Amino acid sequence: MDKLNIKLWTLAAKGQIVPKRSMLKTPRQIAAIRKSAALNTAVLDHVAAHIREGMSTAEIDRLVYDFTTEHGGIPAPLNYEGFPKSVCTSLNNVVCHGIPSEHEFLQEGDILNVDVSTILNGYYSDASRMFTIGSISSEAARLVRVTQECVDLGLKAAKPWGHLGDIAYAINSHARKHGYSVVEDIGGHGIGLDFHEEPFVSYVTPKGSEMVLVPGMMFTIEPMVNEGSPDFFVDEDNDWTVYTIDDGLSAQVEYMVLVTDTKVEVLSK
Ligand code: MF3
Ligand code: CO
Repeated sequence: MDKLNIKLWTLAAKGQIVPKRSMLKTPRQIAAIRKSAALNTAVLDHVAAHIREGMSTAEIDRLVYDFTTEHGGIPAPLNYEGFPKSVCTSLNNVVCHGIPSEHEFLQEGDILNVDVSTILNGYYSDASRMFTIGSISSEAARLVRVTQECVDLGLKAAKPWGHLGDIAYAINSHARKHGYSVVEDIGGHGIGLDFHEEPFVSYVTPKGSEMVLVPGMMFTIEPMVNEGSPDFFVDEDNDWTVYTIDDGLSAQVEYMVLVTDTKVEVLSK
């Protein structure tokens, strides 16, 4: 047994949840996934440079498809479990998994999450940002700002040999302090060799709980923060689009991170 295995085994014997060795990426895998993540960030930058009032969300989908494929990548959402487009665009009261549409146009006051996921040479990456259209209400602006702060605080709380719950606690307590709620049943995930890997990452669990953050782990920090109730429903027609149950606004920011020996590093944001 190598040193790492002994350490993991000792933690497990103390009742800690530790990752399987298959969840720890090798240096070669990390190098390849970094390239995928760099392209993923470039796609988000491309969207940021071109998004504007009056544009349809289908135009954002084309921006993502064209830029990704021109750079040798494949948009991971396209045909993923039947998802029909290359990117998720989640507008206002849409919590996540919004489907780009020719009939949906960006209007002044909108808040939009654009969630980009990329496959490059078989390696996966995933990150999302919030965009605001024209001048938005102070309520919407506060939700977007606090959601961004939640993710930055979650990242700050993430330490090698700490716990996933430390991230969740930082996020959930900041959201609640501002009167918001964090969605419970949809969360983050491991990533890199596949789109969605173990572990499931909750953002409502207590400090010190859940899986130990072991160097080599890669996962997303992507809380969905709702203005009102954390509850949601899924569109019955398309089986994808997730809406807030009370029609309140929802925001989300997603970072893809790697646990190293010394820190938790952002690979795509
Ligand atoms: N990027 C989303 C996530 O974080 C992807 C959802 S699956 C899709 O899990 F098919 F809708 F893209
Ligand atoms: Co994700």
